[in-house]
Amino acid sequence: MLDEKNFTKYLSRHEIEAAVQAIATQINLDYKGKEIILIGVLKGAILFMADLMRSIECPTEVEFVRLSSYGKARTSSGTVTLLKDIQADIYNKHVLIVEEIIDSGRTLKFLYERLKAAGPASIEIVTLLDKASKRIVDVPVKYIGKTIDDQFLVGYGLDLEEHSRNLADIYYLKYPN
Ligand code: IMP
Ligand code: MG
Repeated sequence: MLDEKNFTKYLSRHEIEAAVQAIATQINLDYKGKEIILIGVLKGAILFMADLMRSIECPTEVEFVRLSSYGKARTSSGTVTLLKDIQADIYNKHVLIVEEIIDSGRTLKFLYERLKAAGPASIEIVTLLDKASKRIVDVPVKYIGKTIDDQFLVGYGLDLEEHSRNLADIYYLKYPN
């Protein structure tokens, strides 16, 4: 149940939709005439992936990876492990990594380097939210829905200890601890 004293709405479903559409429009322009492979990062990116892929007009394949870096903690542990790999061969393909939020950049740096080693024709990163001020390692992020302050957010795929991913809007926690 939503603890309304602690959960404050940060982005409404309409604002999220507008951000997703803006990204899709740009991707449709940039990849016109090309085929792409979207690689979503489980579990957080599921809703963003579902909405984004519906607005992409190019021929598209969809893959998922699962990485662990946070576990149940709320700050990045610094160690990233691959729990589930992609099935597709991405050699010579146009790859777009789909993430819902970037914090330190560690998770994406690990994934980006790993996928790049498989020889894609191109590889770019798409994120709905970017906590740019929290970046510890540099990652090239091409498409950003919204740059945000350092706040702990839940909803629209984002979780607090595995809860609240199902919320259609995004909330911040007034008292995260
Ligand atoms: P990074 O490796 O530090 O960039 O962490 C990225 C991952 O941490 C994201 O894919 C999310 O799963 C998780 N994460 C970062 N910030 C938040 C947040 O505010 N709420 C929920 N999960 C977050
Ligand atoms: Mg994630």
